[in-house]
Amino acid sequence: MKILVTGGAGFIGSNFISHVLGLSQDYAVVNFDKLTYAGNLANLDSIANHPRYTFIKGDICNPAAVEPAMAGCQAVVHFAAESHVDRSIYEPAPAMETNVTGTFVLLQVARKLHIKKLVHISSDEVYGDLPPGAFADENSPLRPSSPYSASKASSDLIVGSYVRTFDFPAVITRASNNYGPFQFPEKFLPLLISNALDDKPLPIYGDGKQERNWLHVTDHCRGILAVLERGRIGEVYNIGGQDVVENLSMARRLLRATGKTESLISYVQDRPGHDRRYALTCEKMERELGWKPAISLEEGLRQTIEWYRANTKWMAAVRGGEYLAYYQKHYANRDRSRHAIKESGGGFPS
Ligand code: NAD
Ligand code: TYD
Repeated sequence: MKILVTGGAGFIGSNFISHVLGLSQDYAVVNFDKLTYAGNLANLDSIANHPRYTFIKGDICNPAAVEPAMAGCQAVVHFAAESHVDRSIYEPAPAMETNVTGTFVLLQVARKLHIKKLVHISSDEVYGDLPPGAFADENSPLRPSSPYSASKASSDLIVGSYVRTFDFPAVITRASNNYGPFQFPEKFLPLLISNALDDKPLPIYGDGKQERNWLHVTDHCRGILAVLERGRIGEVYNIGGQDVVENLSMARRLLRATGKTESLISYVQDRPGHDRRYALTCEKMERELGWKPAISLEEGLRQTIEWYRANTKWMAAVRGGEYLAYYQKHYANRDRSRHAIKESGGGFPS
């Protein structure tokens, strides 16, 4: 089966492509990616010359570019997105453009080309934040809080409308917060790990009591492949990790694992509209597809820290130009603790 993977140069997409090509002879992959700031072909160095892999640079919002890339494919796995909540708060337009319009364009082309199955990769953030102790299932209401999560919820609704109206063969997955190798360090875990390894402050928004449901990216990739192969058309599947952890407790855990002290914790101004808790129940994935997360948080964090320790060149490259500018804009005036990121200069990657 030849599959079109959109956003395959990003964090999860690149892990998915390596996972699929490494696991099975059955797939050929076309990776279609615009290479935004988050797209990085270095994530795919190990399979760049694989005989069943092709890369095409292009924008999912442009049907004239999407159509030839999709031609000859039987399935689509759609990762491409503007994926960062904070950036969507500064500048919502790219999230609306790519996540909403881009998904619409992809669906139009996929319909025209009679694609057999499209897996739309969505997020637990579409459910909004949950009360303490609660878990969202696939029927929970959509209550997105940020421009990012609203754009993802919008794309989910558009996909649902194509299933219902046009009998279009789509499936939606909603995953919790991923972590693992090749994650861009604007996100919480790679940011904290890389700052801890460099003895730089770990910025914690607000009181740090927000909870996230951590999922190792390899477990996510296994779940997506199960949905691609056996997921029922028109269904939504939650794919979440085993552990729901407070941000502050995660920061302390990472500091212990990297051998650093808690004095690196730096409380900074909170994110506007910050969701307090995400947590998924994934019984449907287990019941229907036999999937459940296999990598414990302890083992996953250990491996991930080792990966960032061993891949300093990758990290140095992604922390260059654009990232530095974003980091300065985002954190320079945010600090409200004794560890003044601004004054120490210590928050800025060198
Ligand atoms: P990422 O930001 O690391 O990668 C996104 C990729 O999409 C990049 O390679 C980028 O170049 C590409 N892209 C962006 N706009 C594009 C466009 N217009 N046309 C073509 N390519 C474009 O994102 P990620 O963390 O790998 O997330 C992948 C998907 O998974 C997203 O849809 C995201 O909403 C979803 N998701 C992510 C998480 C998470 O924890 N990271 C959790 C749940 C769901
Ligand atoms: P993030 O990785 O941006 O994912 P999301 O907002 O999609 O869940 O953030 C994860 C959590 O970490 C979230 O509660 C925000 C928090 N956070 C911080 O406390 N400090 C930071 O510097 C960042 C980037 C995130």
